[in-house]
Amino acid sequence: MEDTVDVKSILNLQLVTDPRWVQLASISTEAILTDHAYCEQKAAISCISIIQHYSSKKEIVHKLSPIVTEEWGHFRLVLQELEKRKLNLGKQRKDVYVNQLLAFQQKGGSEEGRLLDKLLTMALIEARSCERFKRLSEGLEDAGLRKFYRRFMESEAGHYTLFIELARLYFPAEKVNERWKQWLAYEAQVMQSSELRGDRIH
Ligand SMILES: [Fe+2]
Ligand SMILES: [Fe+2]
Repeated sequence: MEDTVDVKSILNLQLVTDPRWVQLASISTEAILTDHAYCEQKAAISCISIIQHYSSKKEIVHKLSPIVTEEWGHFRLVLQELEKRKLNLGKQRKDVYVNQLLAFQQKGGSEEGRLLDKLLTMALIEARSCERFKRLSEGLEDAGLRKFYRRFMESEAGHYTLFIELARLYFPAEKVNERWKQWLAYEAQVMQSSELRGDRIH
């Protein structure tokens, strides 16, 4: 019950992850950690890309630079966890979820105008990662991994808030709110169509 409240009121997500997902995810620790490692890597790369495209926006450069370091730090923590468990970093798999989100981004128009969707995509990915880490931190059998995921959950929640704040800094509140609602509805559809498909992290 508390889960639903958290996810809907704090993260805004319209659909909670099916609780069965944790059981599916716990089938292979190596697969979870591998997927997770690439998520962190992609988060760092995406922040670098936004900085490169919007270098004239001081707040973007200032606020996202430390996030790059943080996400890369997360990647290294996941690598350490794999090593500790004598597991290997597997291959990167096709990320259906992220590809579907990218398809919803505004394509034409100015670089300036496209920033809103880029920030909201990042906010959504962070929110969904946070929600899934919460599930893992509560539902995994391995106590060490539960603790491991709790730490990530808190960090990604902070990133979600930051991306929303940046959107509100550069765009009018009504515009952000309206587009965010569209994104949430779309993400819920994506989740419904891909629910329990694979054991990936987000
Ligand atoms: Fe992260
Ligand atoms: Fe993050």
